[in-house]
Amino acid sequence: MNEKIKRIAVFTSGGDAPGMNAGIRAVVRACVYHQREIYGIFRGYEGMIDNDIVKMDARSVSNIVQRGGTILKSARSDKFRTTEGRKLAFDNLKERGIDALVAIGGNGTFTGLHLFYKEFGIPYICLPGTIDNDLPGMDYTIGYDTATNTAVEAIDKIRDTALSHNRLFFIEVMGRHSGYIAVNSGIAGGAVAIVIPETETPIDELIAKIDVGAKNNKKSSLVVVAEGGKSGSVWKIAKQVRKKAPYYDIKVTILGHLQRGGAPTYFDRVLASRLGVSAVEGLLEGISDVMIGIKDNKIVHVPFSEVDNKRHEIDEEALQLAKILSI
Ligand code: F6P
Repeated sequence: MNEKIKRIAVFTSGGDAPGMNAGIRAVVRACVYHQREIYGIFRGYEGMIDNDIVKMDARSVSNIVQRGGTILKSARSDKFRTTEGRKLAFDNLKERGIDALVAIGGNGTFTGLHLFYKEFGIPYICLPGTIDNDLPGMDYTIGYDTATNTAVEAIDKIRDTALSHNRLFFIEVMGRHSGYIAVNSGIAGGAVAIVIPETETPIDELIAKIDVGAKNNKKSSLVVVAEGGKSGSVWKIAKQVRKKAPYYDIKVTILGHLQRGGAPTYFDRVLASRLGVSAVEGLLEGISDVMIGIKDNKIVHVPFSEVDNKRHEIDEEALQLAKILSI
């Protein structure tokens, strides 16, 4: 065990994700278990720069394993992108004698920490906290399972009303550059078509697919659209379809930020707990400058070079499954 690491600080950064609290709890309790001091930094990098840092103990994280959001709050920080901002953050950590960091966040958080490590040498491990499931080298990110379940629940409700009125619904789900939520909520929710950022979806092909369903006696249809797709916004897609296929009664629903909230599923709680404890133990064993994840149910440490500008590819099998099931 690395005896040099005596004080660790934990923070959450970027878009919040259900399960972040379970991750914070795991980090704090693992530090207490291994007799290290633990600090919490509020509002991610913003709080690091503003010195918004508190000492924590095992009881600071009581009753949070089941709660959505993050008790440490989160932010996207422009100041941390500047050299001056990062120097201020370093001075604040140094003043408190903080030796190592554990972050919970996505791609942007990892990018910031990697740079910070190169400049100031503070060891860190990042936990993948984002509903997007867009991090390569691992199977799932913290929050993705909960968000997808939330999307499926909403899609099921929309199906009820769609069927009552024989309507065609376009439902937009989150996933800035990633179709994971769309593909799997689409499969689970019985979508006739799924539009994702990773592939092209020509409007004529989309209409042909919906038409096949209608000819096969489908009374209503749901199309799940990931935000940020190549075909434009869900409104744009719906408008184009309405123009070319005016015989459909079309409605649009955007699920938006409701996918980011709510109690984490058991899966996200266990994932975050495993990763939080392993991150602390990893730091104490001398591991640093990595994103920690789970692949094939084993803990893995993914270096920045494997994440930077890389995608977490969608399984061809999932796309084929969606195709077969939507006839
Ligand atoms: O990265 C997570 C995510 O929820 C994306 O799916 C979404 O595009 C984005 O964050 C929204 O960010 P914000 O809450 O800052 O608008």
